[in-house]
Amino acid sequence: FRPIKENPSDFGTMIYDPGYYNTAVCKSQITYIDGDQGILEYRGYSIEDLAANSSFVEVAYLLIFGSLPSSNQLNLWNSKIMNHTFIHENLIQLMKSFRYDAHPMGMLISSMSAMSTFYPEANPALKGADIYKNKALMNKQIFRILGKLPTIAACAYRHRIGRPYNNPTNTLSYTENFLYMLDRLSETNYKPHPVLTRALDKLFIIHADHELNCSTATMRQIASTLVDPYSAVAGAASALYGPLHGGANEAVLRMLEQIGSVENIPSFLEAVKQKKQRLMGFGHRVYKSYDPRAKILKEVTQEVFALLGKNPLMEIATELERHALTDRYFIDRQLYPNVDFYSGIIYKTMGFPTDMFPVLFSIPRAAGWLAHWVEELSDADLRIFRPRQIYLGKRGEKYIPLENRV
Ligand code: ACO
Repeated sequence: FRPIKENPSDFGTMIYDPGYYNTAVCKSQITYIDGDQGILEYRGYSIEDLAANSSFVEVAYLLIFGSLPSSNQLNLWNSKIMNHTFIHENLIQLMKSFRYDAHPMGMLISSMSAMSTFYPEANPALKGADIYKNKALMNKQIFRILGKLPTIAACAYRHRIGRPYNNPTNTLSYTENFLYMLDRLSETNYKPHPVLTRALDKLFIIHADHELNCSTATMRQIASTLVDPYSAVAGAASALYGPLHGGANEAVLRMLEQIGSVENIPSFLEAVKQKKQRLMGFGHRVYKSYDPRAKILKEVTQEVFALLGKNPLMEIATELERHALTDRYFIDRQLYPNVDFYSGIIYKTMGFPTDMFPVLFSIPRAAGWLAHWVEELSDADLRIFRPRQIYLGKRGEKYIPLENRV
């Protein structure tokens, strides 16, 4: 406990808030969440409307620039992003140097971090902090990051399956090109199925931003040092990698596979209640009702199943949800399915290996990270993030030379 500010040298009351349960670190106009009612809006537009009517690229524009683009603006924006999809040959060499079984998320994070060395024009340490007053320069980094992330992700995937990397095809749409780079077969006319392209677009839209989730808070924290955006995105992606955040969809799939059949659900839930394990894909720091993104995903599962057949894990997931939503333990703690509960099943049905799931989360979330980067750097109140601690350790210890220690 600290008293309120009593003299000029004191900084006053300090709040002890582990995990930032109740601490706002910025003002924002990007994303609105009402966790009690299950509402999610980007720049005032409902996630349901955006998922039903927009493309991911359009939503990325909305998040970053604050309004829906006109058709000319959208065409220009799309072409700028698609003109930045190729990655430097040396970056390809760097990716090729990873172990044959490297986790694709580790490859994505490292490659993004390495990109800061390819574009020193974005490095304020070399060019001075006022490069952030140059909107055109900032936009160029945005085109590069959004353009190159799917290429890096596709190369990481190809690496994992031991196949040659594919070049992007810029005449395709953003999601179409991504699927194309993953799967391109020897036929020259190969094109991903439109149902899968649209499903991926919807998945990308609902994952694009979620106000100050852990990775976005990390993005803002790192960006507050004025480092280049590649380093900041690499840091944000590292936060996303964790199983309690973007790695949860991967953890959900492993959990469903471990449960194995619906008969095992009661004993599994018993173990959850005894806190021996967590019900992955359930619970959320902000949503205390059904996550609106999980509702949209349930619909997308049906669209994908109609084309590719029902995934057997869906039965376990649906039963697990039914059990949990009628169980006092989960009701009392307001634990509902979150976005990760169904996304993994869709990705699996589409043929993605489980360790690609966090990568598939990172590509769209980069749009949100960049929107927050732009907003933060134009905030007159911007200052470096520097929380305080409650020190509980020793003080004034007498130093003992190494040879005298027991
Ligand atoms: N399974 C079982 N119990 C849970 C779960 C869960 N998934 N989530 C929370 N609880 C319980 C906690 O044990 C705690 O119980 P207690 O009061 O008896 O101690 C209570 O609910 C409150 O939980 P907290 O851990 O305080 O909630 P917090 O807001 O810190 O955690 C989190 C949120 C990390 C998302 C948590 O719900 C969780 O671990 N979920 C599983 C992982 C997951 O799906 N993450 C994805 C989140 S969405 C995203 O990042 C895109």
